[in-house]
Amino acid sequence: MINTQISAFAADVFEGLASTPRRLSSKWFYDERGDALFQQIMGMPEYYLTDCELEIFQTAGPELLDAIGNRSFDLIELGAGDGTKTQFLIEQFLAAGANFTYRPIDISAHAIEILGNLIRRRWPTLPFKPVQDDYFSALDRLGKSQGDHLRLVLFPGANIGNFAPEEAVQFLRHLRKFLREDDLLLVGFDLKKDPAIILAAYNDPAGYTAAFNLNLLRRINEELGADFRLDQWKHWETYNPVSGATRSYLVSLADQSVRLPDYGRRFRFDVWEPIEVEISQKYNRPEIEAMLQQAGFTFLRHLEDSRGYFSDALARV
Ligand code: AVJ
Repeated sequence: MINTQISAFAADVFEGLASTPRRLSSKWFYDERGDALFQQIMGMPEYYLTDCELEIFQTAGPELLDAIGNRSFDLIELGAGDGTKTQFLIEQFLAAGANFTYRPIDISAHAIEILGNLIRRRWPTLPFKPVQDDYFSALDRLGKSQGDHLRLVLFPGANIGNFAPEEAVQFLRHLRKFLREDDLLLVGFDLKKDPAIILAAYNDPAGYTAAFNLNLLRRINEELGADFRLDQWKHWETYNPVSGATRSYLVSLADQSVRLPDYGRRFRFDVWEPIEVEISQKYNRPEIEAMLQQAGFTFLRHLEDSRGYFSDALARV
C-alpha cells in the first residue's frame, strides 16, 4: 500500500534526494542511536570542540555577570542537551549570589527529563523552568521579558555551524526579535585553524563520524522503509580553508538504486555520486563580529579556550 501521509522527515528526505547535488539534512541525525553516537564523538580525543567550550565555561561566570550588572535574569539555553557545560556556569552564578531562572529549551522530551532530574537533585531551590519545543516556538511561548529582568541566551556547542553563513545570520536576526535592549547572547563558534586539526575531528580513525552519518541512512531504512545498503557508501570529509565550510558527504561505491516501496519511490545513484549530509561551518573572529552586527547585536568580546580553537562570542542587543 502506498503511504500518502508524508511526515516532515519523509518530505525533507525526498526533496533532498531529488535535488542536485543530492543532500540530506544533519538535523535528522539525532534519533536515539544518533544521540549515542554523538556522545561517543564528543568523548574522542580528536573532537576538540567540547573540551574547548568546557574550558571556556569553567571560567566564564564572572565575565558574564559583569555584562549582566546587578540585574536578575533568565538564563535561556537553546538546545540544552545534558547541560554538562552549563552546570559550570550555574555553579559560578550561584556562588556569586546571582538571582536567575534557568530556562533550558530542547526539542527532546527525553533530554529535558534527564536534565531536570540532574538540576533538581543538585540545586533543589534553583528556579528551573524548562520548555520542550523547537527554539522559536519556545521563545514565542516565553513572550517578552518583563520589568528589569534581563535575558542571557546561550547557543553553545557550535550548533550554529550547521547553518551556512547566510542562514546563520537569518537565525540570529530572528532570535534578536525575542530580545530587548541590554539582553545578552553567548554563541559558540568553532574557529578556523590548522586544516589538519579540523579534518581529524570529523575523520576519526575509530569511525564514529562515519557511523554517525551512515546512521541517517539506517534511519531512513527503518522509518521510511528504504533499502539503503550501508556498506555501499563511504564517508568523505572536506574542509575549505577559504570559506571555512567543513562538509560531510556519503559517496556511492556503486551504481545502485534505493527503493522506498511504501511511498512508490526509487532513487538511482551513479558510482561515486555524493550525497551532502552536513556542514560544520568554521569562522574567523572578524567574520563572527560582522555576523553579529549584521543581525542587530553589538559585539562585546570573544571568550576563548587557551589554544584559541573556539570562541563563545558575547554580544548585546
Ligand atoms: C553538534 C553540530 C556542533 O558540527 O561539530 C560532530 C555535529 N558532526 N561530528 C559539529 C558533528 C560530526 C557537531 N555539532
